[in-house]
Amino acid sequence: MKLSTKHLLGIKDLLKEDIQLILSTATQFKEVLQRPVKKVPSLRDVTIVNLFYENSTRTRMSFELAERRLSADTLNFTASSSSAAKGETLLDTVNNILSMKVDMVVMRHSASGAPHFLAKYIPAAIVNAGDGINEHPTQALLDAFSMQEKLGTLEGVRVAIIGDIMHSRVALSNMYLLRKMGAEVMVVGPPTLIPKYIGEALGVKVTYNLQQALQWCDVANVLRIQLERQNQPLFSSLREYNLAYGIKQKMLDGLGKNIVIMHPGPINRGVEMDSEVADGPNSIILNQVENGVAVRMAVLYLLAGREG
Ligand code: NCD
Repeated sequence: MKLSTKHLLGIKDLLKEDIQLILSTATQFKEVLQRPVKKVPSLRDVTIVNLFYENSTRTRMSFELAERRLSADTLNFTASSSSAAKGETLLDTVNNILSMKVDMVVMRHSASGAPHFLAKYIPAAIVNAGDGINEHPTQALLDAFSMQEKLGTLEGVRVAIIGDIMHSRVALSNMYLLRKMGAEVMVVGPPTLIPKYIGEALGVKVTYNLQQALQWCDVANVLRIQLERQNQPLFSSLREYNLAYGIKQKMLDGLGKNIVIMHPGPINRGVEMDSEVADGPNSIILNQVENGVAVRMAVLYLLAGREG
């Protein structure tokens, strides 16, 4: 099977079959990563540039590792240390890089739609590694992979997405993916951080009550408050946010069931969740990071036109 798309710009435009193909290919790569020699020659003839216009730890390292495990040649570009700081446009930067015969571009940018713009103008395959407040498709894919690994299926699973829904590209990509795959979604957070009409637009439930969401869900995917994207205060203080929406171990103990705890990172301990919760037995936060490499290997492999 092959992907129906040339680029991975978002989950919005993916078919359910594409998502299934990426997840099953990732299972095979996860098996490769358990071997003593964690490397395959699959992309030996492929050159990939990692174009990061915005800070990143996990995502960037994960893509770099995935590329190396596939034996691709890689180039790294960091906006702050490049000619972008001298006023070069995005298209000029990329065209210059492409003259060096690059096949694929992995791109993170603070402007929503930046990878979609590039996809119109350059022949290389583009992977969106996070564009502004729009999408972060590989994060949603690794979240889905991790949920499926833990629970056996996505069909009918109840997922609560908690926190800064408005500014989170992780939330949007997760909502698209989970709805396509037959999971149920409830978003929860302060009213000022949940866009109006999101329920009808995306087929998700909305609540402002954390306890209600925890009682309803099988999985809690907890988000970071994206203070850097809020140009006016949308809640009174981090302390008050924690009082109303922070996940505490006592709450989980009182539910009478186990729920899976997820977070895309970076965590602000003591704000969106306590350390006891982040490091507790129901947390799969570090499994998410581990699975990220296998999922990104699958995405790069399939976008290079290989068959899964
Ligand atoms: C997220 C991001 O950058 O979109 N982190 C990540 O990629 N793992 C979420 C965040 O920054 O809060």
